[in-house]
Amino acid sequence: MNAMDKKVPLRPQDDLADALAGDMAAVNVLIRERMASKHAPRIPEVTAHLVEAGGKRLRPMLTLAAARICGYTGDHHIKLAATVEFIHTATLLHDDVVDESSQRRGRPTANLLWDNKSSVLVGDYLFSRSFQLMVETGTLRVLDILANASATIAEGEVLQLTAAQDLKTDEAIYLQVVRGKTAALFAAACEVGAVIAGAPEDQVRAFYNYGDALGIAFQIADDLLDYSGTSAQIGKNIGDDFRERKVTLPMIKAVAKATPEQRAFWTRVIEKGDQRDGDLDHAMMLLTETGGLQAARDEAFVWAEKARQALTVLPDHPLRQTLSDLADYVVSRIN
Ligand code: IPE
Ligand code: IPE
Ligand code: MG
Ligand code: MG
Repeated sequence: MNAMDKKVPLRPQDDLADALAGDMAAVNVLIRERMASKHAPRIPEVTAHLVEAGGKRLRPMLTLAAARICGYTGDHHIKLAATVEFIHTATLLHDDVVDESSQRRGRPTANLLWDNKSSVLVGDYLFSRSFQLMVETGTLRVLDILANASATIAEGEVLQLTAAQDLKTDEAIYLQVVRGKTAALFAAACEVGAVIAGAPEDQVRAFYNYGDALGIAFQIADDLLDYSGTSAQIGKNIGDDFRERKVTLPMIKAVAKATPEQRAFWTRVIEKGDQRDGDLDHAMMLLTETGGLQAARDEAFVWAEKARQALTVLPDHPLRQTLSDLADYVVSRIN
């Protein structure tokens, strides 16, 4: 089958993009408008580089979808969706500095093209712009949710610093990191869509739970792809987590099953940071042989199922099925 064949199902994010096309066009206009700066030319250079590279726009689409499922008829959801994407873009700029990454969205990172200083400061600018945008909705509760999410993301990233290079990092700490750095924004993106629509509390909760579980499934998948994906598939370099000595779920599972000899290997490459040619391949082999990759994959599927379950209390709506399919899709990439 080729991509032109009508029987090829659209990916759920394409279904979402189709269903939300009008709203997303308005979000994109707002993003372009607000990422500019009259006073510092470096800002539009850096933001245009990132924004023109695309990105899946998953989080803003979640906000728009939640608002629509909850029957919202106003226009504040556009500002909230742009807010969420700005927070996301700011965290990516900062994350690529922290992770010393050289590729993002299939392009060289801003820290590589310009420098760390520009990435940190433009990230700060985008964070501030996101706050300005959300204030314009005049809704204290959405400010609360998004301000909390921003703090939680930063906590997740900082917790990850101390969890890295330490084989004592266990699944509970990993989950805390992932919930913070990734799932918090997915959850908030969903929740604010429901809140702005004035949805009943059980629906607001359901959207939070969906976003939380989806975000966890998404990050576990991302961590698996860091070992088993291809650079063309993910638009980022493979093996970054290993080189950065990050202790992600496949490794935690593999270390739990390690023989003394295997453990010595993990200690050398992760705790001592003594990495040599061939070590990434050897790590891949151990992750496969000990079942670490498979166990992490299974866990991603469990979270995707939790995400789908959370949707059951929501009103019947075609987009509800699309969100359910999206949960399948984020883990289908690792199948
Ligand atoms: C990247 O998120 C950061 C992670 C949480 C792994 P996305 O994969 O959604 O990034 P873009 O916006 O589509 O590039
Ligand atoms: C993603 O962290 C979460 C944030 C950007 C806050 P990662 O470091 O795991 O994501 P990638 O692989 O760089 O996209
Ligand atoms: Mg990173
Ligand atoms: Mg990171």
